[in-house]
Amino acid sequence: MAEVRRVGMLTGGGDAPGLNGVIRAVTTKCVEDYGYEVVGLRRGWKSLLDPEPDTVMPLGVDDVRYILQEGGTILGSSRTNPYKNEGDAEKVVRQMEEFGVEALVAIGGDDTLGVAKRLYDDFGVQVVGCPKTIDNDLSATDTTFGYDTAVSIATEAIDKLRTTARSHERVIVVEVMGRHAGWITWGAGLASAANVTLIPEVEPDLDRIADIFNQRAEKGEKWGLVAVSEGVTLSEELMTQNAETDEFGHVRLGGIAETLAGEIEVRTGIETRHVVLGHLQRGGTPTAFDRILSTRYGLRAAEAVKGGEWGQMVALRGNEIVTVDLSEATEETKTVPDDFYRVIETFFG
Ligand code: F6P
Repeated sequence: MAEVRRVGMLTGGGDAPGLNGVIRAVTTKCVEDYGYEVVGLRRGWKSLLDPEPDTVMPLGVDDVRYILQEGGTILGSSRTNPYKNEGDAEKVVRQMEEFGVEALVAIGGDDTLGVAKRLYDDFGVQVVGCPKTIDNDLSATDTTFGYDTAVSIATEAIDKLRTTARSHERVIVVEVMGRHAGWITWGAGLASAANVTLIPEVEPDLDRIADIFNQRAEKGEKWGLVAVSEGVTLSEELMTQNAETDEFGHVRLGGIAETLAGEIEVRTGIETRHVVLGHLQRGGTPTAFDRILSTRYGLRAAEAVKGGEWGQMVALRGNEIVTVDLSEATEETKTVPDDFYRVIETFFG
C-alpha cells in the first residue's frame, strides 16, 4: 500500500447540486486534519486519460471555503469512460503516477463508480467513491445529494404551471428527469399535488388518464397537471432525442411529454401543452438537505482515505454515513417500489 501524500479528486457524469459540498469537505478534512496535499482533477476521468494544461487544480482550504452553496462542480465533469477502448485504463493508472497522486476520491454515479471499482480490482488503485446523482437510483445508499434539490425545483415548476393551466383551462404535461427510475417525478408529483404522476416503473394507461381529465372537466375543472418521467414508455418504445449513445451506452431520453400531451388532447378535447424541465433540475444552488448530506459524505470519504478503505464508497444508511463495497453502487438500479407508487396513485384526479 503506497503511502498517501497527495489526494486527487474528480467528479464524473451529470452534475448534481452538492458536488461542491463534497469537494469542500474532502479538501478541508484532508488538509487540516491529515496534512495531505489535495488536487482537483478537472473533467472527470478525462483528466487522467486525456489531460489538458489546466487539469490539475491545487486545492487549499481557502479555495473551497465559499463553494458549499454553489451548484455544479468547480472541477467540471465529463462522461469519459476509460474502459471503452483497450489500453485506456492502463493510461489512467500511469497518469495518476505522473501526477503524483497516490489516492483518489471519485465522486459520481454508477458509471463513474463502476470505473473506480474496476481500477481498484484490476490495478489496485487506491480509490474511495462518493455517490452522486439527482436520479436517486443507486441501491447502495438510502439517498444521494442532488435529489432533494431536483425534487424541489420540479415541485416549484409544477406549482407555477398550475396557475396558468387553470387560467387557460389547459392540461399541462411536465417532463421530469431521472432516466429509468421515477424518483424525481414521484417526489415532485407528490409534493406539487399533480393530478396524474407517471413513472417508468408502471405502464401508463391512457384511457384511465383521459377518464381522469374528462371527469374533472364534468365537475367544472377543465384543466390539470401531469408529471411524467422522461423514461416512461408508451408501447414499450423509449422516447429518445436521437439515436446516439454516450460512452457508457446511455441514450438521451426525451419526448414523452409532447407525445403524451397529444394523446390526452385527442382523447379529452381539452387543449394540452407540454413543458420539459430538463437541466433546470440540476442547476442552481443546493437545498440545505443536500448541503448537509454532501458535507457528511465528504468528511467520511476523507476518513476512508486516511483509513485506507480502498475500493469502498460512502453511503447513507438510516442516519449514519457508512462505507460499503463499491460493487454495491453498480449492482442494481434502485427503482420506485410498488407501495410508493400507490401513495401517489391515491391522489390521482
Ligand atoms: O443522470 C442524471 C441525468 O440528469 C438524468 O436524469 C438525465 O437523463 C441525464 O442525466 C441527462 O444527461 P445529459 O446532461 O448528459 O444530457
